[in-house]
Amino acid sequence: MQTFSKSYRLVKIKYSAKNLVITLNSYIKQLKGELQGLYNEHEASSISELFVLEILNISRTKYLIEKDDSIGKTSLHLLEEKKERLLEGEPVKYILNKAWFFDLEFYVDKSVLIPRQETEILVNYIIEEASNIKNPKILDIGTGSGCITISVKCNVLDASVFAVDISKDALRVAIKNANIHKVDVCFEQYYVLSAKNLPLDDRFDIIISNPPYVTESEKIQMHKNVLDYEPNLALFVSDDDPLLFYRYIIEKAKYSLKKGGQLWFEINENFSDQMLKLCSKNGFENNVVIKDLNKKLRFIKCKR
Ligand SMILES: C[S@@+](CC[C@H](N)C(=O)[O-])C[C@H]1O[C@@H](n2cnc3c(N)ncnc32)[C@H](O)[C@@H]1O
Repeated sequence: MQTFSKSYRLVKIKYSAKNLVITLNSYIKQLKGELQGLYNEHEASSISELFVLEILNISRTKYLIEKDDSIGKTSLHLLEEKKERLLEGEPVKYILNKAWFFDLEFYVDKSVLIPRQETEILVNYIIEEASNIKNPKILDIGTGSGCITISVKCNVLDASVFAVDISKDALRVAIKNANIHKVDVCFEQYYVLSAKNLPLDDRFDIIISNPPYVTESEKIQMHKNVLDYEPNLALFVSDDDPLLFYRYIIEKAKYSLKKGGQLWFEINENFSDQMLKLCSKNGFENNVVIKDLNKKLRFIKCKR
């Protein structure tokens, strides 16, 4: 940590020196170097570029043309103002309040998990399935930023979509995103680990959930910027009961899914066998595990 603040001071001094010309390219290069203690080379490179281009509102094409132009004083000030957060390890998407998911831009802040690329695969399957159902009713449990439910609704126009989360702050973000994308989603606050029924009378064609599934003991493998900044509530579950959320959700799905309705989960790749057993034990059929792009056992589809 000390190394970062030291190098940050150095850069500040360097930039304030008289007549020093800082080009877009040299700023990005310098930033990439400063981030390398926190990220690998590829990550450091894409984060620095994203940070600079987004803050200065420069398109990639414009960047290619103007990369050797000098950065003006005001722009430099804007960058320097936010750079410290980046060097402290805050994820760039929280600093920008932007994340991209399924070709859509979402508002994000520290109250929600940053949407992950692997979840896009889940959304792709749901859109395919929902497109074969007339006026499908879909429920997303643990909606966070609303990325799953909003992406589905944007692509399946005749769907009625519902989403729940325990966190009021996350629901505020999800509502903001639904408004940004001008889609109608019914959001409700709901604590899924309770005996209370879902606060929705409907029976659903599809229920989706990407609940917390990282065990406490897996924390050591995680990047500092996830641990320090992303909400614990969205990520972790105790080692003693890693399938806790799935058990409760399956229990709710027994009543809230239409006969023949589909239940889709994102899962921890280490528990796919236990998940298959859990689904079968509860009377679900056609249970299938699906891999993500990294060939990890990441999703489960089952039928009521
Ligand atoms: C892994 S995040 C998924 C967020 C989003 N669906 C996504 O895929 O990016 C899990 C979500 O479950 C919510 N959650 C955690 N505990 C909950 C509970 N007991 N009841 C309802 N939602 C809960 C968290 O607030 C968080 O938004």
